[in-house]
Amino acid sequence: MAEIIWGLATSHVPSIGAAMDHGKTADPYWKPLFDGYEPARAWMAAHRPDVAVIVYNDHANAVGLDLVPTFGIGTAESYDVADEGWGRRPVPPVRGAPELSAHLVGELMDEEFDIATFHRLDVDHGLTVPLSVYCPDPGEAWPCAVVPVLVNVIQYPQPTAARCYALGRAIGRAIRSFPGDLKVAVFGTGGMSHQLAGARAGLINPEFDRMFLRAIESEPEKLAALTREDYIRRAGTEGIELIMWLVMRGAMSDRIARIHDTYHVPASNTAAGLALFQDLGAA
Ligand code: DHB
Ligand code: FE
Repeated sequence: MAEIIWGLATSHVPSIGAAMDHGKTADPYWKPLFDGYEPARAWMAAHRPDVAVIVYNDHANAVGLDLVPTFGIGTAESYDVADEGWGRRPVPPVRGAPELSAHLVGELMDEEFDIATFHRLDVDHGLTVPLSVYCPDPGEAWPCAVVPVLVNVIQYPQPTAARCYALGRAIGRAIRSFPGDLKVAVFGTGGMSHQLAGARAGLINPEFDRMFLRAIESEPEKLAALTREDYIRRAGTEGIELIMWLVMRGAMSDRIARIHDTYHVPASNTAAGLALFQDLGAA
């Protein structure tokens, strides 16, 4: 049976990827952020999964506003890196895990989550930047296959935090029932507080972010009880991306250990956070 070995929550700010692609990680602006990643990266490099289930949102690159699925799963053999307007990132294409994808879709449908399936999908910074946070130097190929899990956090009405947490619980059960000896990591991406447009553009709320970083470990139900308006009011219009961290947390068992976390302001317009948890398995 497949097992979940760890969960990583991380911001997916595009310029974090650009800083890596352009060799700027030692610049004074970026160094503190990347220094903060180091202990997590070292631990993950010693605990390689076969597959990463990456919960992210597309930013109108592959999924237009004409058709917005609430939840989707990529089922392809591979995924190209999206051109977001300035050329594709110089990172490898993403290898899929179609058998695990198909299993997740089937199990989730049976649990009454109506999942859109992406048989073709270009993956944008929401997915590739977290992969770079995990593995800064992939060379010719990423060290794991990927199941992309898409969540609409862009267009009202986004799914509730509670629904995202419940989806995560169902994903966890589905992964653990996969008949295959796979080690799986689950990524929750986006956040932390940020707002890119409107009267409150530039909003950062460290008090909320610190509360969230603490509670995601031991009180996820408290975070799942917040409304979408709570997230947008307190963390900004794009801060609602944090509901995707709850999918990751839901997939993990009740026994987890915090390996590392870090919080840095700013990365572009965003409060960047990372939290890494080892899954200690069912009690
Ligand atoms: C930024 C942050 C994001 O989460 C995103 O998807 C795009 C841009 C930013 O801070 O620049
Ligand atoms: Fe984003």
